Amino acid sequence: MNPPSYSVIADSDCLGVPWLVIMDELQSALLEFHERSKHRINRYAPGPGRLDWANQPDPFREFAGVPRIRLPLAADTLATRFNDVRSGELASAGAFELESIAILFELALGLSAWKSHGANRWALRCNPSSGNLHPTEGYLLCPKLADLSAGVYHYLSRDHLLEQRAAIDDRSWDDAFSCNGILIGISSIYWREAWKYGMRAWRYCAHDCGHAIAALSYVAAALGWQTRLLDAAGDDMVAGLLGLDRGEDFAAAEPEVPDVLLWVGNPDCLPDGQCLLDAAKKATWHGRANRLSAKRLVWPDIETIHRATHKPATLELGASRAEPAAPPAAPALDLSFAQIARQRRSAVSFDGAASLPASSFFGMMDCLIARRDTPPWNALSTPAMVHPLFMLHRVDGLEPGLYAFLRDPAVLAGIRQAMRSEWLWQKAGPAHLPLYLLLPYDLRDTAKSICCHQDIAADSCFALGMLAQFETALQEPWCYRHLLWECGMVGQVLYLEAEAAGMRATGIGCFFDDEMHALLGIEGHVWQSLYHFSMGHPVDDPRLSTLPPYGFQGFQA
Ligand SMILES: Cc1cc2nc3c(=O)[nH]c(=O)nc-3n(C[C@H](O)[C@H](O)[C@H](O)COP(=O)(O)O)c2cc1C
Repeated sequence: MNPPSYSVIADSDCLGVPWLVIMDELQSALLEFHERSKHRINRYAPGPGRLDWANQPDPFREFAGVPRIRLPLAADTLATRFNDVRSGELASAGAFELESIAILFELALGLSAWKSHGANRWALRCNPSSGNLHPTEGYLLCPKLADLSAGVYHYLSRDHLLEQRAAIDDRSWDDAFSCNGILIGISSIYWREAWKYGMRAWRYCAHDCGHAIAALSYVAAALGWQTRLLDAAGDDMVAGLLGLDRGEDFAAAEPEVPDVLLWVGNPDCLPDGQCLLDAAKKATWHGRANRLSAKRLVWPDIETIHRATHKPATLELGASRAEPAAPPAAPALDLSFAQIARQRRSAVSFDGAASLPASSFFGMMDCLIARRDTPPWNALSTPAMVHPLFMLHRVDGLEPGLYAFLRDPAVLAGIRQAMRSEWLWQKAGPAHLPLYLLLPYDLRDTAKSICCHQDIAADSCFALGMLAQFETALQEPWCYRHLLWECGMVGQVLYLEAEAAGMRATGIGCFFDDEMHALLGIEGHVWQSLYHFSMGHPVDDPRLSTLPPYGFQGFQA
């Protein structure tokens, strides 16, 4: 089992200090954070204790003093079916223009509804977020298009508009986009999440970023475009391109940190990040970021893990992908992609009775296999490093119990050796799926107690933990973030698949990490369970009212 290796090009932190000494310190910081941010049966990870509601962060970042471009609400014009997208059948690619870019943002990061209960109202978005706190911000970087000038734009989901942070009138900027495509930048505001979840919030921010990457990749495919993360870009480059390093623009505001750049266009012809950065540095920037809370508590653990997982510039990885296999079985419901993207929700409770047809379950597994050209996996160049361990409660035709689904069959020997020797490893399901029954047993109570005693883990058709190849993070600390993103991407696949199966899913960030490891028999840090999930038949909360996301009086600015 060989984790991918990233070749570091340069890192200014290592001036004069031997690289191995730095790596040793980074690994210790990472391990300390990982251990201390675990929830344990007898104590939760350090958090704020009580919620300071008066200081709750504003869920919307906006920039004062910027030109604003209203985007059309055009998602209803998108005819693509969800089943075509998940099968890797790209729609015919449209031009990069305001309307198609508007759809990309609307269905990936836009609002999906407003909810209300009594006097309280809150927005939901197409991308999920732990606690609905939405630390993720989205940016567009584009060349001069027919109806949009070249530059860097921040997406304000509340009003579905672009805020122009930088107008870029520079040949080299447009030349760097000569491959015909656009870049989407993703950043995180840790404070939004830390306000409620304290130290563990850092992990949730990374999961949310993974959900956002996947959400964008799906919509791009529905518009006929491939996606690919710019692996080589270091954090400093991403920060420079998104304007996050412009101290004066964030002077009064909570900082935003760089995550990734997602190329939307030809995956074999990537833009030159350095050319873009040089042009962005010469550009005229506008705007001051808003302050989200009256006061901000600093979490030193988050500052430490942020520094420890700083991504240097690395060499571009060659895409390594399985060839497309037979398409997954069609889902139970044949819905349009736009409908699935907008109706995706987290279940707050499940009925504890419905069961999922085995064919639906197997179709979902097909969609979890990282295939070239199929969203969201076309965005990644790395082999699958996250593998679901299912606690199946009610899937027709499959015995309840513990199952391993190996998204990369090459990990079988290593993962098997890392777990209890008494597991059965009995092949289950269709021949082509690397699905193994480990233990036939009713695990509903176990699932509930592992997931911080949440009923959704027991009342679902299945719950799962995502076992990640954690040793990659120990070798290259920034890969910790990558693993957490990949977990979020697995989650986003399951969220959309659930809707198409007539079910509903919920991400589970609250779980007792080492209880899951104890169940599996995992010791040490080669493998760690980083995110949990559940899917079942939802029971809605009748006290909540739902209002449309846009275009009615009262909520839009
Ligand atoms: C990383 C992550 C962790 C989450 N953890 C939990 C959890 O432990 N329990 C829960 O009930 N919901 C959890 N959720 C669901 C969120 O609360 C939900 O996404 C949010 O309230 C927004 O609602 P929506 O998904 O319906 O848009 C999680 C979601 C994400 C993305």
